[in-house]
Amino acid sequence: MGRIRRQGTRDIQGVVLTMLNQEQINFFKSNGYLLVPGAMALTQCRKVRELMWQAMPKGSAMQVDDLVSQIGPFKSEDEALDARHLRVGYRWLNRFLGVSPEVISLIYSESICAMAQQLLGGQLRQAVANGLPMGSYGNAWPGGPTDPATGNEGARGVYCTLPYGNKAKEPDQCHTDGHPFQLGVVGLIDDCPQDGGGFKVWPGSHNKLYPTFALRYDQPRIPYYEHLPGYKGIVHSPEYLHEVDKLNSDVTPVECWGEAGDIVFWHHRLAHMAGHNYTNSMRQAVLADFWTTNLDQFRTTPAQGDMWRDWSEQVQLSSTDYSDELAALQRL
Ligand SMILES: [Fe+2]
Repeated sequence: MGRIRRQGTRDIQGVVLTMLNQEQINFFKSNGYLLVPGAMALTQCRKVRELMWQAMPKGSAMQVDDLVSQIGPFKSEDEALDARHLRVGYRWLNRFLGVSPEVISLIYSESICAMAQQLLGGQLRQAVANGLPMGSYGNAWPGGPTDPATGNEGARGVYCTLPYGNKAKEPDQCHTDGHPFQLGVVGLIDDCPQDGGGFKVWPGSHNKLYPTFALRYDQPRIPYYEHLPGYKGIVHSPEYLHEVDKLNSDVTPVECWGEAGDIVFWHHRLAHMAGHNYTNSMRQAVLADFWTTNLDQFRTTPAQGDMWRDWSEQVQLSSTDYSDELAALQRL
């Protein structure tokens, strides 16, 4: 796999400051994702990796210089169930770091925000360094997922997937996110080889799933009652469930493996999953959302119609043409 060459000036961290070209935007519109290699500064990636290890309690069984100790699942003595710094099973999620100045300047850098702005137009919501981290108000409903949109003033956080060791292989299973946002980004802060737990996306699934939603940005939720467990917070339409089944059986996902500094943008209705990690090294990535200050107004508008009407004029006017060369670089 070659690296996508981008021309342009570099900042002092060596990050290319080029904007997205028209072909990349066309590809995003058509497929709902876009890999952008080398978008984050390596020195900053290294700093965030160091912060992850500094956040581990002293005397933990898992150690930075011992790869065998990093094979999942977490030992019971290293487990933590606080949603802001979760360590359980094969997942190590540090959401406190999502509001650290280091993570915010990494994933919401001038360069990455400029690219997000090209796609979204409008006025980007601004993250607040040292603000409230995701998970501050607990789960979306009892036993449910942590809501990325509740009490989160920064990025989602640093999400790691430990190597599966001898865990049995599992099939890929896609989903969409239920909270309102417009554009997601996953940035690798360390090298992530193939089959190493990289984010997986189902190309073009945003086009298939968009018509199945009852609301433009939200996921309908109903109250959760322990004695009436038939509904668990979120209700999907039969059309949505049918499309997800078809995506799982018919579409080969694209795995966003790569090198430290690589990012992938993804559309909020794109089917995706956290990849399984069948390698010997931990997957380490920063996850963050973008949305514009108009989202609260947009979410009240009809769910159907032109799915791109809230996006930048450049995206709206884009075609869906791109070269085979770009498709190959995007692993399509
Ligand atoms: Fe998700």
